[in-house]
Amino acid sequence: MPKITVIGSGAVGATTAQRIAEKELGDIVLTDIIEGMPQGKALDLMEAGPIMGYDSSIMGTNDYRDMEDSDVVIITAGMARKPGMSRDDLLRINSNIIKEVSENIKKYAPDSVIITVTNPLDIMTYVTLKTTGFEPNRVFGMSGVLDSGRFAAFIAMELGCSVRDINAMVLGGHGDTMVPLPRFTTVSGVPITELIPEATIHRLVDRTVNGGIEIVNLLKNGSAFYSPSASVMNMVEAVVKDTARIMPVCAFLNGEYGYNDIYLGVPAKLGRSGVEEIIELKLEENEKKYLEKSANAVKSGIAALNKLDS
Ligand code: NAI
Ligand code: 2OP
Repeated sequence: MPKITVIGSGAVGATTAQRIAEKELGDIVLTDIIEGMPQGKALDLMEAGPIMGYDSSIMGTNDYRDMEDSDVVIITAGMARKPGMSRDDLLRINSNIIKEVSENIKKYAPDSVIITVTNPLDIMTYVTLKTTGFEPNRVFGMSGVLDSGRFAAFIAMELGCSVRDINAMVLGGHGDTMVPLPRFTTVSGVPITELIPEATIHRLVDRTVNGGIEIVNLLKNGSAFYSPSASVMNMVEAVVKDTARIMPVCAFLNGEYGYNDIYLGVPAKLGRSGVEEIIELKLEENEKKYLEKSANAVKSGIAALNKLDS
């Protein structure tokens, strides 16, 4: 079985481990800095195996060495923004965590494919790449699968139809500037622009862009984890089963869509080696403008980080 390490055993990390085990995608190493916590969650997941009928092994640890020779490493370690904390504070704290984690991945799992989840996503994925020095196809982030999932859920609720028939597309950074694309979002092949009035589409797009904060406001002491872990599991499955599925991936751009040296959500083919191909959609002028706004937001995040580091 492939070896899959999940770094950070909080809400997203532990639920991701559960989903991976339930699909028997590999043997799992669950890590955290909190002593006993990953060990406890791993044991609990092992004890669920006979009941759920999975044979994945799950071990919990506080030692980076246990990730040795992992095929896939998922980074969920980090902190959520707390009251009184600026974006720059969060940027500094999480980028330091990502740097430490990435140094250890480089040391112990030099051939792995890395999926970054920690926020601010596009910038943390960039930090992962720069710290590991891995080839860009082996380092990507999860955001668009989640954002598209939210868009699809809202469309299904609106139309009263099955989510299975909906194929939604959201590009750009994971934040206020993400770019849901109604023209490329279909129900059984029919673009939603032909099925749903424009004003309603605007409302659903708005709800998608604010999907993360809607959950935070309801939970009050945490952010979403069921849909994020489902999204990560989909990406892991594409890698370990080499499925060549095309999904929105926070991928490193090297000229695609006119951008360089930046991570941005774009449709991409995922397989054993990670990002195998970036699909370039023919965007209309207004869609390009939204993507540019999103790219500028990511660029200014990277600039802020460089300033903090200098
Ligand atoms: P959480 O607070 O439940 O878990 C984070 C865990 O990371 C904690 O258990 C903490 O002890 C651990 N940690 C901190 N430093 C560490 C280190 N150096 N090594 C190992 N573990 C370390 O948070 P949650 O809800 O699991 O979210 C995790 C991250 O994922 C956050 O940054 C969150 O904003 C982000 N996120 C991103 C999404 C996306 O679409 N990209 C979706 C959902 C969450
Ligand atoms: C979300 O979109 C917090 O990024 C996380 O739910």
